[in-house]
Amino acid sequence: MPKRNIKNDILRILVTEDEIQQIVKMISARIDAYYADRDSRLLLLGILKGSVVFMGDLMKNISIPVEIDFMKVSSYGGGTSSGGSVNIILDLHRKDLSRTDILIVEDIIDSGRTLSYLVNYLKLKGAKSVRTCTLLDKPERREVDFQADWVGAVIPNEFVVGYGLDYDEQYRALPYIGILKPDVYS
Ligand code: IMP
Ligand code: MG
Repeated sequence: MPKRNIKNDILRILVTEDEIQQIVKMISARIDAYYADRDSRLLLLGILKGSVVFMGDLMKNISIPVEIDFMKVSSYGGGTSSGGSVNIILDLHRKDLSRTDILIVEDIIDSGRTLSYLVNYLKLKGAKSVRTCTLLDKPERREVDFQADWVGAVIPNEFVVGYGLDYDEQYRALPYIGILKPDVYS
């Protein structure tokens, strides 16, 4: 039996590969400029698993010295809406963050709970600064007041997959951001 092609499950492409690469270039240039004259360390902190593809592209385009690390969190609340509290599944283990500027790299902001929790958490851990960048932002879905420092694209209130983002752990490997056909959910 032939293997299923995941691209056949996509109803519409929302952000193309070219558009994503333009976003990556724009954000990496701003990161280069913003952190240029600092004598501290810059840590790109990816939030697993959704941010891995964006993280990979971003780090290749940044010219200033960076370190990378990852955290894994889950937000509970049930179903497709978050709504609950944030749980740390994989923590950041570094002894002294007082000379480290942390830039959190996220795939998408929805309710805003994950990033607002993490920014606060990392500041309490003693980071010199904590800033955030996200490939996608769905401001219509916000439940807590949160604004990222660098946003790739603002998108409407649609569930999207691809370029790291999943539905039921599938579709992360798609090279673009798309909306699934309704029958995939049923
Ligand atoms: P927040 O805490 O509600 O902002 O949750 C953000 C997280 O929810 C993201 O890191 C994603 O893992 C997940 N998420 C939110 N919207 C989508 C979507 O449209 N597709 C896939 N994952 C999403
Ligand atoms: Mg995520």
